[in-house]
Formats: sequence, structure tokens, C-alpha cells
Amino acid sequence: MKTVEDYIRTIPDFPHEGIMFRDVTTLFADPRGFRIAIDQLLHPYAGMQIDKVVGLEARGFILGGAIAHQLSKGFVPIRKKGKLPARTIEQAYTLEYGEAVVEIHDDALQPGERVLIVDDLLATGGTAEAGIKLCEKLGAEVVGCAFIIDLPDLGGRAKLEGMNMDVHALCAYAGE
Ligand code: PRP
Ligand code: MG
Repeated sequence: MKTVEDYIRTIPDFPHEGIMFRDVTTLFADPRGFRIAIDQLLHPYAGMQIDKVVGLEARGFILGGAIAHQLSKGFVPIRKKGKLPARTIEQAYTLEYGEAVVEIHDDALQPGERVLIVDDLLATGGTAEAGIKLCEKLGAEVVGCAFIIDLPDLGGRAKLEGMNMDVHALCAYAGE
């Protein structure tokens, strides 16, 4: 039986030399691969109350939409700055080179709502940390962060667990 990892394509030297790019489009394109990914992302949260699913741009939208549909809950996007049309709050985070800013609509979550954050990949954890902060600024409670891929050498899992966050990833690539 193929696992989620079997559907992920690796592209060496993209976007620059020395980077092994983990391409989840091949996972998303396969009907069985996509279904098992969504089912496995949700598995630890079975029976838990989740009020909203929050997806991180861009591949987190694809996963988050499917997960929200499966749970019959609403979906909320966190986007790169300047893309959301209504009033937002924003959070800066550090990239390999420089800073970036993500935003959420300020009425997208209600105080006390329990949210699941989803994205394709956890690397340094900067994007997810910014997402958690935005949800918490709106008074929501983040019950977990779910990813397809963890790159533990880049420290994201340790960072999020250091914030007492539940981290769930379907596979990991380490020691490369
Ligand atoms: C990638 C990936 C995660 C993030 C992880 O997105 O999809 O969202 O990086 O990195 P981090 O843990 O170090 O923050 P990217 O910012 O490349 O943008 P995209 O999803 O819009 O392509
Ligand atoms: Mg991303």
C-alpha cells in the first residue's frame, strides 16, 4: 500500500541549488493520495471540537478547504499582506532573507472558537507561528497545527512545541 510519502515528488535544486523541493502537487493530483492525506491530517482530531479550519497561503488553502468540507465547518484563509479585501490584522515573521507579513480578516474568527491550522510544510515554523499569533489575537484557541511534511532540522516543530502547540505531520525529511 502506498503511503502519503510515496506520492510526494522531490525536485533537486529548486528553487535554488542545494534545495530538495518537496512537491505535493503529485499528492494532490492523485485521488487516493489526496484522500489519504486529508484523512490522515484529520485523524488525531477525531472527536475533538473544531469550529473553524484556518489554511495558510497557498497550499494550506487546498488542504484546509477539503478538511473544512469533511468536518462541515467553515474555512478561513491567512494570506500574504495585501490580498484580503476587508479589515485585517497582520503579523510579521522572519524568512531566510528578510521579513514577510501575513494577514487575517479581523472578523474571521470569534473569541473562544477552536481552530485547526493547516499547511503543506513545516520548515522554520515562522509561517505557522505567525498564523497561530493571528488566531490568538482574535481570541481563538488553536487546537492543533497539521502539516503534510515536517523538516525537523529547520526547527519548526521544536519552535511550535515550545509554544505548547500540538504539531501533527504525516511525514518528515531529516538529515539531508
Ligand atoms: C512555504 C510552505 C509553508 C512555509 C513553511 O510557503 O508552503 O507555508 O513555506 O516555511 P516556514 O516553516 O519556514 O515558515 P511559502 O512561504 O514558500 O509560500 P507559498 O505557500 O505561498 O508558496
Ligand atoms: Mg506556504
